[in-house]
Amino acid sequence: MPPGREALEAILLVGGQGTRLRPLTIGTPKPLLPTAGVPFLAHQFAKAAAAGITHVVLATAYRASMFAECFGDGAAFGLEITYVHEAEPLGTGGAIRNAAAGLRSGPDSPVVVLNGDVLSGHDISAQIDLHRKSDAAVTLHLVEVADPARFGCVPTDADGRVTAFLEKTPNPVTNRINAGCYVFRRSVIDEIPPGQVISVERVTFPDLISAGALVMGYPDSSYWLDVGTPEAFVQGSCDLVRGRLASGALPGAPGDLLALEGAAVDPSAQVCGGTVVGAGARVAADAYVSGSVLFDAASIGAGARVSGSVIGRGTVVGEGVVLDGVVLGDEVHVAPGNELRSGLRVWPGQTLGLTCVRFSSDA
Ligand code: GTP
Repeated sequence: MPPGREALEAILLVGGQGTRLRPLTIGTPKPLLPTAGVPFLAHQFAKAAAAGITHVVLATAYRASMFAECFGDGAAFGLEITYVHEAEPLGTGGAIRNAAAGLRSGPDSPVVVLNGDVLSGHDISAQIDLHRKSDAAVTLHLVEVADPARFGCVPTDADGRVTAFLEKTPNPVTNRINAGCYVFRRSVIDEIPPGQVISVERVTFPDLISAGALVMGYPDSSYWLDVGTPEAFVQGSCDLVRGRLASGALPGAPGDLLALEGAAVDPSAQVCGGTVVGAGARVAADAYVSGSVLFDAASIGAGARVSGSVIGRGTVVGEGVVLDGVVLGDEVHVAPGNELRSGLRVWPGQTLGLTCVRFSSDA
């Protein structure tokens, strides 16, 4: 913990089903997907620990037991982890309220709440400082994006006070959106009704604002990415590998390629763009792999061309296959010569014979 800082607590929301990332999330919750060589949450743990957070409460629902199997007591991350489980998913607000059972802070203490699917370079300590200085009920991290309609749009006044919380509106009034990191005054969490399905974005924040509570915005322009879609997941992993977002959890130094233990890349193959070659994965002669994530034991055949894709664990990509923006689940077999593009997703265990050939003008 940085010197002179008090011990802080955080709640991490990790109970979502990650439907947009299927089929990757069928067997593995989104926060545990291998990202730049480690489970996604390891990057958030490193960031939390660097901000002086010593105790993390994981709010689990979907495939809850996998989290404790993966992270244990948290000591390996310099944290203490408490697991709180929802028998039925309670939504983001209900999950925060439920997780309060694991907190130790007093009613006036700041509690950091993080969505378990966001990569961010913002300074959590500065967000907490603003929260304290303004004595806010909640302080929200805000970022500007080009397409705010997909997110919660959050206008503020000249003093930084949030004036409305407009969840996924077709006509956003500002490009500033909810970035998924909140600092709550502990007592505000305790006021959320317990045991109910509640969205913090649709209910808790709008209710606080209409009741006149001080909700502050902490705008920031550093790196930010919601990794909820396959394209964003691939981008986030590549950005971490290349060092576009620094992470204390990255295994090794940033570079164009991250090859994990036992990975084998033929010297004539080209692997670049922040690609991860998972443990025991293979890339054969003359293959070209760019900006992709190869899970453990994946295999890329000779002369294949793979870009912007996720290749599941144990999946075999045949010789000369072309993959562009594709998600292949675990243990998929793609026969030589296939060409798969444009957001195609293949469920685990499938075998694709020759489904598509390239036509040329002289064919
Ligand atoms: P999609 O189904 O693809 O939208 O993903 P998701 O299920 O993760 O939902 P979303 O991205 O909206 O969730 C934002 C964050 O809140 C993620 O970190 C989720 O894990 C978490 N989350 C969403 N719903 C719940 C819930 O009911 N309980 C808990 N504990 N966490 C939740």
